[in-house]
Amino acid sequence: MQEEFQLVETLVQKVDTTGVDPIVVREAAEILLGGGLVALPTETVYGVAANALDELAVRRIFLAKERPAANPVIVHAADARQAQTLVDDWPVLADRLADVFWPGPLTLVLHRGGLVPGVVSAGGPTVAVRVPNHAVFQAVIRAAGIPLAAPSANRSQQLSPTTAEHVLRDLEGRIELVLDAGPTPGGIESTVVDLTDKPSILRPGPITQSMLEQALGVECPLAKPPSDLNAPLRSPGSLARHYAPRTPLECSTAAPLRVAELSSQNKRIGWLTLGEESDANYSENVIVLSLPSNPTAYGRGLYAELHRLDELGLDRIVVSLPPDQEEWAAIRDRLIRGSNS
Ligand code: TXA
Ligand code: MG
Repeated sequence: MQEEFQLVETLVQKVDTTGVDPIVVREAAEILLGGGLVALPTETVYGVAANALDELAVRRIFLAKERPAANPVIVHAADARQAQTLVDDWPVLADRLADVFWPGPLTLVLHRGGLVPGVVSAGGPTVAVRVPNHAVFQAVIRAAGIPLAAPSANRSQQLSPTTAEHVLRDLEGRIELVLDAGPTPGGIESTVVDLTDKPSILRPGPITQSMLEQALGVECPLAKPPSDLNAPLRSPGSLARHYAPRTPLECSTAAPLRVAELSSQNKRIGWLTLGEESDANYSENVIVLSLPSNPTAYGRGLYAELHRLDELGLDRIVVSLPPDQEEWAAIRDRLIRGSNS
C-alpha cells in the first residue's frame, strides 16, 4: 500500500538574510529535530529539509514531493568537517574541491557512511553531500546541529523554486514551515560531481567543468551529454523529464520563426528570449519575456520566468536556446530536460 503524507498547517516566516532572527532559527531547528520538514533558501534554489539521520523524516520528504524512492537526495552539511562524518572515504580530490568551492553550489558524490540511512541514497552505496552558502540555511543547520537532507522544494519533476511563493504552490499543507528570505541569489541547482570513480559531472551547474578541472588538476568530463537523453543513467535521479513547467516547453535555435509559425496557428505562446530578439511585434497571443544574455543573470531569472509563464495556462512555451558554450551548459541541460516530455 502506498504511504500518504498527512496534511499539516504550513507556517511562513519572513527572514532577513543580513541578521537572521535567532527565535525563528530556533523554531526551524526544533521542527527539524522533531522529524518535521522546513523549506529553506540556499544560494541556488529553495530546498525542503529534514534531519538526514532520521529515516522517517527523510521518508516524509519523498511523500511530500511525490518523489520516486529511486531518486536519492543531497545531504547538506554545515562545513566540510561535518560532511566528512557522512562518508566512508574522503579522497584528496574531495579536499581540493571543498577547499575552493565550499560553501557553495557544488555537490560531491562519495561512498556513503554508516550514519546515513539508506533511504537518503535510494538504497545505493553512495551519498551526495554539499555545504550551502546561504546565511539562513547556515544559521538553521548550525542551530540544529545535524546534517540536513534537502532536495529542491518542488513536487517531483516540476520546476525548482526560487521564491517562497513557488515553494507554497507545490508544498503548502505538506511541510511545517517555510523560511522566506526572498528570491534566491543563484537560480540553477548545484553542480553534482561523482568522486567514487574517475571524477565526472553528473549534473552541470554553476561550477563549470573548467573551474572543477583547475581545482582538481585532473579531467572532470560530463558523465552524459545532455543531448543524449537515452544513454544509461549514472545518476539515478537524472530522469530525462525534469525541471519542467506544466505547459509544454520547446527549445529552439530559430525561435522567431517558430513563434511566428505557432502564432499563425492561433496558439497562445510564451516566448522566453535571450534579450536581443524581443523587439519584434507579434500578435497578442504571444507573451514575450526576455532574460539577460549573461548566463549568471539568466540563471537567476530562469525559473521565476518559467513559473510566471506556467501560471498563464498557455499552449506552449518556446525558449530561445542559449549557445552551446561552457558557461551555458547548466542552463541548456535544464532547458533540454524541461522540454523532454
Ligand atoms: O542546488 C541544489 O543542489 C539544490 C539545493 C536545495 O541544495 N538541491 C537539489 O536537490 O537540486 P535535488 O534532490 O532536486 O537534486 C539532487 C540531484 C539529483 O539529480 C540526484 O539524482 C542527485 O543529485 N543525487 C543525489 N544523491 C545522489 C547519489 N548518491 N548519487 C548520484 N546522484 C545523486
Ligand atoms: Mg530537484
